[in-house]
Amino acid sequence: MASTSFGLLVAAIAFVGVGAVLSTPAKTVPKATVTFFLSTDCPVAMTYTPRFQRFVQEFGPKGVQFKALFPNDLEDRADVDRYMNDRGYAFPATLDLGAQEAKRLKVTHVPTVVIKDDKQRVVYVGAFDDNPHGPVVKNSYAAKALEATLSGQPVKVPKTTPTGCLVMPSVAAVPAAKVNYAEHIAPLLNRACVECHRPGEVAPFTLTDYPTAKKWAPMLAAVTSTRKMPPWKAVKGHGEFLGENRLSESEIQTLKNWSDAGAPSGDLKKAPKLPKFPVGWAHGQPDMIFKPERPFNLAAEGADEYRNFVFDPKNKETIWVRMMDVKPGNRRVVHHIIGYIDTSGAADRQVGNTKDGQEGYKTFGGPGFIPYGSLGGWAPGLQPHDTGEERAFEIPPGARLVMQVHYHRTGKLETDQTQMGIYLTKSKPKQAMKLAWLANPSLRLPAGQKDIPIKLTYRVPADVTVYGSLPHMHLLGRTMKATIEFPDGSTKPLVYIDDWDFNWQMQYIFKEPMKVPKGSRILVEGTYDNSADNPRNPNDPPKLVRWGEETTDEMFLLVVPYTVDGQVVP
Ligand code: HEC
Repeated sequence: MASTSFGLLVAAIAFVGVGAVLSTPAKTVPKATVTFFLSTDCPVAMTYTPRFQRFVQEFGPKGVQFKALFPNDLEDRADVDRYMNDRGYAFPATLDLGAQEAKRLKVTHVPTVVIKDDKQRVVYVGAFDDNPHGPVVKNSYAAKALEATLSGQPVKVPKTTPTGCLVMPSVAAVPAAKVNYAEHIAPLLNRACVECHRPGEVAPFTLTDYPTAKKWAPMLAAVTSTRKMPPWKAVKGHGEFLGENRLSESEIQTLKNWSDAGAPSGDLKKAPKLPKFPVGWAHGQPDMIFKPERPFNLAAEGADEYRNFVFDPKNKETIWVRMMDVKPGNRRVVHHIIGYIDTSGAADRQVGNTKDGQEGYKTFGGPGFIPYGSLGGWAPGLQPHDTGEERAFEIPPGARLVMQVHYHRTGKLETDQTQMGIYLTKSKPKQAMKLAWLANPSLRLPAGQKDIPIKLTYRVPADVTVYGSLPHMHLLGRTMKATIEFPDGSTKPLVYIDDWDFNWQMQYIFKEPMKVPKGSRILVEGTYDNSADNPRNPNDPPKLVRWGEETTDEMFLLVVPYTVDGQVVP
């Protein structure tokens, strides 16, 4: 624990369920229909939550049906579901892709309320009431319009000017009748997929030409709709990260439309060229390059391998690393890489204890020790994180560098000799980057149980700047959500993964570093599935699982890179 200056306070607190406001079940002909136009990130729409809930409670039992539409750009299905759930809204919600419904009804802002009568005629469009700032209301426009409609009276004020956030229409999906490979699909695959799905790369097939893309079309639609691909695990809206690779809901719909339409080619002459991928070191010659002495042999069969190669930089003085980059030897098997700095001697000891005749040592996800520092992460398409000249990770004399390669097997013997390059600061940086190692080693996962909550809380002991995080769990992990709670009670997301995939151990580095004052708390909540229904469960039948390094053990860990504000490297 010596590498972190964060105190450790571990607490397990059960989650409290969210109460839901229920509307009446659908009747054949509703007496009226209320549509809320909302967005997941408009503060005015959020302020209205309790008022909307009371409205639903009052009018639901009177035969009124409710629904929500989300017309804005970059909303996604999962976000909308979470938003509805967090707010206890129990009526249906749909994306209004391309804001088509909003345009038709001339809705310009969120929140807007649209009321239709029992003949589906629009009787009211506008603001919910006259006070978007607080609950003290003089004029409840929507309630008045609805009461009039229910009693068969004309609505006196059928239109008001809404306040809130402007509707920012998303790009509509390309319809099945128009969509084709050359104009719509190739640009999308080039942007989000071919980095990995090209000859010789880690993905199992290429997506670089029309015939293969056509062949895979139904699969492309399937894996993008579940967001398995592209592999970006952080939930949108919970932190903005470097290298984020996501498709919008419209793009996912476009892929599905294309597949449904039989994957037409369009005019292949119009298809864009493949992007250029760098050969060699993309960021110039590294200051130091490390390479295992011999190629590593990866057997045809078995679980994926996490192999840790240990290098001695032989520095007589302290050096400072600002960036790591990787030149994969055999791109087919190098899934992703994380670099660590060890000053404890543990990495060398593990190499000494390894008897499989190959270089380095094997672990299961973690490096097998608490690192002194990080060299960052690498995955195909992910830009390495450059900390700059001002702050960097220290490599003291005698330290070891550990390159941890996650190997993906291909079903035949493969060899690999991947190189790691590090870039040093020109002079001593102002600040030392450090790693906080936030863990809950008392974790205990009873056999057969689903949705097991694990939680931990850290009190931040100094004014710090936080750069992102690296979540870590094993095979039973399902979700992890980390939030920073500031002393004034406000919160900001650190990272949120709602569909943990052990395969993709990635770091999530903020676009903008975050100032976190002393006394803030970092809350980390996770869930695990130790039931027989979890296809990844390594124990059959399930058994009690605790913290440990083995495949059959678990971890609950969040590694957080940070600097201490005002602390200058002496
Ligand atoms: C960062 C690299 C990477 C990117 C980017 C990527 N893939 Fe993959 N893809 C993989 C790997 C590796 C696999 C093998 C399975 C795994 O590791 O999850 C895979 C597997 C697949 C599969 C096989 C299905 C399966 O369940 O294994 C499909 C289909 C697929 N990718 C489609 C896509 C599409 C479409 C995109 C872009 C929208 C994309 N991928 C982007 C790396 C990538």
